[in-house]
Amino acid sequence: MAVDLLLGLQWGDEGKGKIVDVLTNNYNIIARFQGGPNAGHTLVFNGKKHVLHTIPSGIFHDDAINLVGNGVVIDPVIFKDELDKLEAQGIDYRKTLFISRKAHIILPTHCLLDAASEASKGKAKIGSTLKGIGPTYMDKTGRNGLRVGDLELSDWKERYRTLADKHESMIAYYNVDIDYNLEEREQKFFEAIDVLKSLKFIDSEEYVYQAQKEKKTILAEGAQGSLLDIDFGTYPFVTSSNTTAAGACTGLGVAPNQIGEVFGIFKAYTTRVGSGPFPTELFDEDGATMAKVGNEFGATTGRPRRCGWLDLIALKYACQVNGVTQLMMMKGDVLSGFKTLKVCTGYKYKGEVIHHLPYNIEPENVSPIYTEFEGWSEDLTEMSEASQFPKALNDYISFLEKELEIPITIVSVGPDRKQTIFRK
Ligand code: IMP
Repeated sequence: MAVDLLLGLQWGDEGKGKIVDVLTNNYNIIARFQGGPNAGHTLVFNGKKHVLHTIPSGIFHDDAINLVGNGVVIDPVIFKDELDKLEAQGIDYRKTLFISRKAHIILPTHCLLDAASEASKGKAKIGSTLKGIGPTYMDKTGRNGLRVGDLELSDWKERYRTLADKHESMIAYYNVDIDYNLEEREQKFFEAIDVLKSLKFIDSEEYVYQAQKEKKTILAEGAQGSLLDIDFGTYPFVTSSNTTAAGACTGLGVAPNQIGEVFGIFKAYTTRVGSGPFPTELFDEDGATMAKVGNEFGATTGRPRRCGWLDLIALKYACQVNGVTQLMMMKGDVLSGFKTLKVCTGYKYKGEVIHHLPYNIEPENVSPIYTEFEGWSEDLTEMSEASQFPKALNDYISFLEKELEIPITIVSVGPDRKQTIFRK
């Protein structure tokens, strides 16, 4: 059975968690394949909001297995906190949550290194979530990292110490002022490691392979978005993993010819949190309205998100890189009330008009060319089927489908599970 993928097509925060939760009824296994607690996947049901950082978004369904794949980086302290919250809600995760032995562990010193690196960059900082993501992936590719499977070895604490000591000398090298109490952080870390060790560690690539043979349905859940991909994103203002479809192959051990549907999720407009270029960013009333109505604050850091019009050039690029087969448009409801909507359908780039994402998209190189649409005033949040959509929304959707040559199969009209409209 092929593995389906679900990915964000913009700069993250598209609403992946909600859609994974909605789709989990169709899947036996939900598997995260990259990223770590820099992610914040928000789910709303029965009037309650839940935020997950590392745990897959299928965890609220009794029958689904939730796998944290080898490509993910785990902060045991944040992981334990997530588990505590699940437990408080009576979720019995012990039988349904598995962790790959090959997943890497975020050490307290990785977070400190992140802070030191960002502080040393000054104005050129990435705007990292400071969860230790970059330094942990650096240790992975540098072949120094500590993996979940290492916790089963008798000398793992010595390995930990060697790595943490090295980090401390690196922090000193940065020569920046960061205040920390490592002993305190380590105490919490070791307590959390004990909790992590009580969970089921597996050889996840073998598990996924056997599950496919047994015709189990598997959904791979991406984190962040394609424009934050380490290779294809707006480098260096990106995260440190492959957030695109290829990342699911390396982050789970799934062969490329075993990928089925690729669900691409995008917001009806665009947001970005952290630094980096954003051609359609708005600094006016329209941007402020999107931020307010869309409640655009980071689920992990609480930082306000930058808002702007939909960038079709960037979206097309993300569809290409990922091989998207179905699109899901989120937060259509936030655009209700705009008299005119704009979609970026070209860039002015070094005196020329282009229709692809070039190497440089900084404001000095690129300015957006917009196509305008009539807006709609109807409130979409109470709608339950596509036949209720206003004509202007249908026109907006049809235009995107035509330009992207991919069907939009879901339109989300609010944060709740119930506010999800399937289109034929
Ligand atoms: P890091 O991955 O925490 O180092 O952050 C690198 C960049 O990616 C920063 O601009 C972050 O704001 C952004 N980023 C990381 N994770 C997410 C996410 O889940 N949603 C949106 N932006 C993210």
